[in-house]
Amino acid sequence: MFSETLIELLKKDPKICVLTGAGVSAESGVPTFRGENGIWKKFRAEELATVDAFMSNPDLVLAWYQHRRDIIDNIEPNPGHYALAKMEKNFSDFCLVTQNVDNLHENAGSKYILEVHGNIMKNKCMNCNKPVERLDFKEGDELPECECGGMIRPDVVWFGEMLPQDVFEEANRKAFQCDLFFSIGTSAIVYPAAALPITAKQRGAYLVEINVTETELSTLADEVLLGPSGEILPKLLMTAGIDV
Ligand code: OAD
Repeated sequence: MFSETLIELLKKDPKICVLTGAGVSAESGVPTFRGENGIWKKFRAEELATVDAFMSNPDLVLAWYQHRRDIIDNIEPNPGHYALAKMEKNFSDFCLVTQNVDNLHENAGSKYILEVHGNIMKNKCMNCNKPVERLDFKEGDELPECECGGMIRPDVVWFGEMLPQDVFEEANRKAFQCDLFFSIGTSAIVYPAAALPITAKQRGAYLVEINVTETELSTLADEVLLGPSGEILPKLLMTAGIDV
């Protein structure tokens, strides 16, 4: 199932950069964005995940994020998340970049995580940017307000917004320098995150994709491992002799 090139490379303690997307959390029960049961089939992104949506209907947007937090509160990381946390411990230069906002990598024990689309458990003031930890909001509740009077919003990247620049720059630097890049559980179509595997490949890294289906990245990848990441990642580590 795995090429000899990949297994040999893993044994040489390569510099590794990983990009994860919603598919990594699918086996934990978090819905993905696209595909048959994708979130964006049920909700229109521009009605929920934009500044305009928030300004015109903050109750609805906050209630939707609360609904997603409630889902996450009741689920656990899966073997894919745990395998990635294990990889961080086993390789001397390992960077995990995630587009997921669900905190499951952290819950699985990963420490060095570049969250390029923010984190749904965190909130911030729209006015002064002050971080606000956990928020529990029910429709009908009074809107939360910062002490400066600003509105409190989820600390996630909405459509039309810039990614946190320092975080993305670090991700880009790691993609630029790595020997081995994994693109896992992402449709690899939302930029600029989707540019990271391309950058890595252009700089000479070995590019591996793990996904249940082929994506737009597949033709560029050196190796496409088709299957659920929660099954493939532990198998890969075992085959490479990394204790799981
Ligand atoms: P998508 O929903 O676009 O893609 C999820 C990918 O995971 C698909 O390619 C699936 O085939 C794959 N997949 C599903 N189950 C899997 C499994 N068990 N193992 C491996 N792969 C699996 O989600 P993302 O690529 O993460 O942005 O979407 C990128 C961004 O688009 C999100 O971060 C979000 C969204 O709009 C923002 O909210 C800013």
